[in-house]
Amino acid sequence: MTTTPPAVRPKRPHFSSGPCAKPPGWSPDKIDTHILGRSHRSGLGKERLKHCIDLMREMLVLPDTHRIGIVPGSDTGAFEIAMWTMLGAKPATCLAWESFGEGWVTDAVKQLRLDPTVIRADYGELPDLAQVDWSNDVLFTWNGTTSGVRVPDGEWIAADREGLSFADATSAVFAYDLPWDKIDVATFSWQKVLGGEGGHGVLILGPRAVERLESYMPDRPLPKIFRLTKGGKLIDGIFTGETINTPSMLAVEDAIWSLQWFQEQGGLKAMIARTEANAAALDRIVEQRNWLGHLAQHPEIRSKTSVCLTVDGADAEFIKRFTKLLEAEGAAYDIASYRDAPPGLRIWCGATVDTADIEALGPWLDWAWSVLGEQMQ
Ligand SMILES: Cc1ncc(COP(=O)(O)O)c(C=O)c1O
Repeated sequence: MTTTPPAVRPKRPHFSSGPCAKPPGWSPDKIDTHILGRSHRSGLGKERLKHCIDLMREMLVLPDTHRIGIVPGSDTGAFEIAMWTMLGAKPATCLAWESFGEGWVTDAVKQLRLDPTVIRADYGELPDLAQVDWSNDVLFTWNGTTSGVRVPDGEWIAADREGLSFADATSAVFAYDLPWDKIDVATFSWQKVLGGEGGHGVLILGPRAVERLESYMPDRPLPKIFRLTKGGKLIDGIFTGETINTPSMLAVEDAIWSLQWFQEQGGLKAMIARTEANAAALDRIVEQRNWLGHLAQHPEIRSKTSVCLTVDGADAEFIKRFTKLLEAEGAAYDIASYRDAPPGLRIWCGATVDTADIEALGPWLDWAWSVLGEQMQ
């Protein structure tokens, strides 16, 4: 191996797992700014919010059974709105196999004081999904962004469940074909696969979730930004563009731009194909190097978006130096594993990344490996 830098750099070295790369061709001057400086409750404001909602529905291939709305607080806000408004009616089970799932356990135990059944697995593994009791409400992360482990499909979710399924799907939407009939609540943020901005969350509710909201009022105070019902009825406006409070219309327009790019590429199928091509390109890089490995050993549960890699013998300090070298060269940004995860690399393979850039990254990983190897001799 050589310490001479490779000749070709990834054109866009944006491999962060959130906020993720903007779509190819994106630039701020392409964003429609007509609505800026105007009310989100004006005719135009409502129209743009509704347009964003309609595009999300189309790009997700979301059935009419499910409502979709824009809420405050990014994915965290959307998931916590769902937890605070709906949990407590039934026993709860929380599944956790990385830090975000663990965060929902903390909320359920320490804040909501629900005494849930908690089923855990280590980083790189998935818990035994057959253990899940579907008389409970079940909370899980479809794609664990910090361990690179995802659920393989929706087969393990009971069709005749009594409880509700709550999927934190922020790094899964637009990357996998989600079985909406198995999902009662899903949440995501624009900053992931869409390459949009943080700040707003998206809340998706199936009919059984709406039924829960309209029949159950938890015995806890709910701040205004968490309230989805009025007089025991769902506030339908939230799902047609009448947001609870003031959104960033710049973030909304930015999301619209990304969604239109998705549409031009061929929609969900095309986005899944781009993600899979990226993950396959990264997989080839891993296969060809004995010092790189996958944190998720089993391919059927390995994420195709937030791919987490092990680096032979690396500790947190090594990863810091490795990723700093690549950042300084403009070859790869933000590819260190998450702070709570085992030291390693995490490379985003979602649809807004170009496969050629993943391919160009391989020689740069070799370069950083040999530079650090020399320095340590
Ligand atoms: C699985 C998962 N859940 C929740 C979050 C929090 O998302 P946000 O910062 O958009 O609230 C993230 C962010 O990386 C995530 O990956």
